[in-house]
Amino acid sequence: MTTLTITRPDDWHLHLRDDAQMCAVLPYSARQFARAMIMPNLKPPVVTTEMALAYRARILAALPATQLTCFEPLMTLYLTDNTAPADIIRAKESGVVHGIKYYPAGATTNSAAGVTNISKCYAALEMMAQINLPLLVHGEVTDPDVDVFDREKFFIDRVLLPLMQRFPSLRIVFEHVTTRDAVTFVNETANPVAASITAHHLLLNRNAIFQGGIHPHHFCLPVLKRETHRLALIEAATSGNPKFFLGTDSAPHSQSNKETACGCAGIYTAHAAIELYAEVFEQANALDKLEAFASFHGADFYQLPRNHDHITLKKETWIIPTQLEFGAENLIPFRAGEYLSWKMI
Ligand code: DOR
Ligand code: ZN
Repeated sequence: MTTLTITRPDDWHLHLRDDAQMCAVLPYSARQFARAMIMPNLKPPVVTTEMALAYRARILAALPATQLTCFEPLMTLYLTDNTAPADIIRAKESGVVHGIKYYPAGATTNSAAGVTNISKCYAALEMMAQINLPLLVHGEVTDPDVDVFDREKFFIDRVLLPLMQRFPSLRIVFEHVTTRDAVTFVNETANPVAASITAHHLLLNRNAIFQGGIHPHHFCLPVLKRETHRLALIEAATSGNPKFFLGTDSAPHSQSNKETACGCAGIYTAHAAIELYAEVFEQANALDKLEAFASFHGADFYQLPRNHDHITLKKETWIIPTQLEFGAENLIPFRAGEYLSWKMI
């Protein structure tokens, strides 16, 4: 196969940042995706519908004129201990907020204002279940007794399962799943639970963090896992099961914030996202499954219409730039300076 035409995909998990940094990365996402679910972990976090509306307006204002009509940011709110049922109603009524993001406090970048104990959010969650607004979960416990590689697995038993039992009708996206445990859990549950999968967790296992030295640009959260987990993710993504869909979790940080004594978590993949997924699906002999994973399953889960236009990928070798502009700084993209075998035309 030398060309592949699919319905235009959506990115169901994207960090766009703000201001000049957002202006730098936004065109790469808008080039490929019709819509993206925009993460709210800004400083300060997007905790109200008014903040989400203002952020959405900044995104639309930052879009180049040529992309203005073809990219729609779907907004999320950042759940806190103080999110009230009235905040949830307001979010739903806005028509622009499509999910509420649950970061356990301290789990990842800009999560300090996140949830300290999910029991503090029961009233908000009850309302979300009632009015059909999905919960997007960063599924990692932060308990110091839990090994960093086991944080996702422990989250399932300690937090997710009790939550699902309490709110059985709440629609939940288990974001950026990284383990066989999470895949099995999502496959087996009868609750309305789906999962997004990143390109980097499909392409790399944890060896990539340490190969020949420490690789800060391969550090993300949840952290990369063993090969057996990566294989489970590939199986899930290419299975055709509508519970699994594309979410890049593309998370840009400046080169200086990555290459330092205590570097930030996050991998930037949006510059070549659909091409990276195409590579995974081709290697798994499952290119025929890419369209549903990238363009149908997420829209269906979020109860939004599927896109109508198409994109075409061509089998063509190209080299990813060694660095990109990122406001006043640099951004090192995933696979910087390396070859990719698919190119969107
Ligand atoms: O690696 C990550 N980076 N994981 C997250 O959960 C957050 C993200 C970010 O915002 O940088
Ligand atoms: Zn994320």
